Amino acid sequence: MDAARKARLNACAEFSHFKVGAALETTDGTIIAGCNIENATYGLTICAERVAMFKALSEGHREFRRVAVVADTEAPTPPCGACRQILWEFGGDLEVILANLKMETGRHRLSDLLPSPFDARLLK
Ligand code: THU
Repeated sequence: MDAARKARLNACAEFSHFKVGAALETTDGTIIAGCNIENATYGLTICAERVAMFKALSEGHREFRRVAVVADTEAPTPPCGACRQILWEFGGDLEVILANLKMETGRHRLSDLLPSPFDARLLK
């Protein structure tokens, strides 16, 4: 959660002003963090969770245990549908920890957030 809070400070969120940080933990305890990155076309925005996952993959990490997602909101900010899909395909059934700047606001298994997923097993 601390790593996600720190990454959130780097968010490029000048259009929504909604800053998000995410931090993935690998099975060997390495933490890789990301923030949301918006741009002038809006549609090319990448959420914090996908930035963290793509950073981790590009650095060679392949096995993950959990992910923390932080936003400055009272209510939990769960990953969007696109991020659930990417987290599932590359991270498996992660523990998803939601938090704001002060405290944890929710904890889920990714399989509960994304029941009946489409993934590579169905391409065979
Ligand atoms: N956003 C994230 O980065 N992660 C989430 O879990 C929810 C939404 C970002 C996308 C966009 O930059 C802003 O928050 C508002 O939707």
